[in-house]
Amino acid sequence: MTETKSEWNSRSAFILAMIGSAVGLGNIWRFPNVLYSNGGGSFMIPYIVSIFLLGISFVLVEYAVGFRFKRSLARILFTISKKLEPVAWFVLFVVFLITTYYVCVVGWDLIYVVLSFTKGWGANPDLYFANNVLHATDSVSGIFTIVPNVLVSIFIIWFIAWFINKRELNNGIGKVSQILLPLLCIMVVAIVGFSLTLPGASIGYTQILTPDWSALGNAEVWLAAFGQIVFSLSLGMAIAMTYASYLPKGSRLVDNAVIVAFSNSGFEVFNSIGIFSILGFMTLTSGIPFNELVTEGSGLAFVVFPQVFNTMGPASYIIGPLFFLCILFAGITSVIALLEGVCYSISEKFLISREKTATAVCIVGFCISIIFATGLGSTILGVFDSYLNNFALLLGILLECVIFGWIYKFDNLIETLNENSNIKVGRLWKIVIKYILPICIFFLWIQGVYNDLNFQDPLSITIRVILTVALIIFPIIFTKLPAKNKHYYDV
Ligand code: PHE
Repeated sequence: MTETKSEWNSRSAFILAMIGSAVGLGNIWRFPNVLYSNGGGSFMIPYIVSIFLLGISFVLVEYAVGFRFKRSLARILFTISKKLEPVAWFVLFVVFLITTYYVCVVGWDLIYVVLSFTKGWGANPDLYFANNVLHATDSVSGIFTIVPNVLVSIFIIWFIAWFINKRELNNGIGKVSQILLPLLCIMVVAIVGFSLTLPGASIGYTQILTPDWSALGNAEVWLAAFGQIVFSLSLGMAIAMTYASYLPKGSRLVDNAVIVAFSNSGFEVFNSIGIFSILGFMTLTSGIPFNELVTEGSGLAFVVFPQVFNTMGPASYIIGPLFFLCILFAGITSVIALLEGVCYSISEKFLISREKTATAVCIVGFCISIIFATGLGSTILGVFDSYLNNFALLLGILLECVIFGWIYKFDNLIETLNENSNIKVGRLWKIVIKYILPICIFFLWIQGVYNDLNFQDPLSITIRVILTVALIIFPIIFTKLPAKNKHYYDV
């Protein structure tokens, strides 16, 4: 069979799908903590510099490459040099593994959407999360006990992702993004608006307005800003490249990239005003110091926020569900984007239909995610997250950077980008891609490797060894498997 190439039917479908891919858990629960621990208001300077200099620059590479080649990542790298195909499968395999645990976190959130209507987490959300949701245990035998609620919610999220990804591009990802993104915006505006009316809100939001200028001299703060942009814009995960390959002729690539980057950052900055205000309210009512409340990750969403809702009164029955629905919608639009690049490479190489590829990828993904629905699930998830994000993904991005900046003649890309855009790129962009970006990513990667070494217990080491072996073997297998698409090897 031959697949006709998918194409976005409107600019807004592309832009909203791109924003949906970028706006995710990272924006909601990672950014406020990064902002707070890196100087508050003054963090905006390295943050904005990172968006312009590095974030948009790299998105542009991905757009230009995807748009010019109109192929999947695996085939693009093969076209650039035959030897590079394994790098593509490596990146895609990392992205796929990230999806397997990202789905689990979105699944936890689904449980909290349900709980939030009745504040079902009770008086002690901390214990509830550990004992009643995760059924967390430290003993290795915990891997043999399945936690039914988590398993069911993981299944539901995989099912939703499958249902969207298997459909034709515009009817699936396009339509869902056009529905969920506006809803997400309305909900965030409602939450932020409400949070500003809370007593004590100013204790929170003034933290964003109070700059610590000395932080600007600290290299780690700059690295944190760059790290947030990489994570938040989902750089190097084959998403932008895949979505841009579906763009019709005449698309304004640079303009689109600027819109997407600013919407994503605008979302996280705006959202953090709400988070900070709500935490300010908690500080006022409970006396818990603000700095103890600004945690990140599941601790912020599933422990601190339920505690806040417990002290809030009747409004919490609306704000609570809205908060968890925001995470759910942001999470789903990211999951479908993570899967799309993976599915596209597989379906293009092996000439399998969109529907069948999505089915196979989601079934395998679900089977892997089952590990996270065991008593040891959250521990394993922590190791996956640290290893894949700090080490593997950054290594993949670094390789992509070197490939596109140094191996591929990317002067061609300048022409592609400037063809239809109002905003043009030139020499500065070239310098950034060739020199500044790889150096920054290299430092980020070194820092990531160092952070990942915090996990030194036997279980973490075993998981890392298994992941490393898998990350070597699977890319080789996928490269070696002969393509069914007879045009695949045309360069
Ligand atoms: N950018 C999205 C987020 O902030 C998606 C993402 C998923 C990024 C997984 C990195 C890893 O959540």
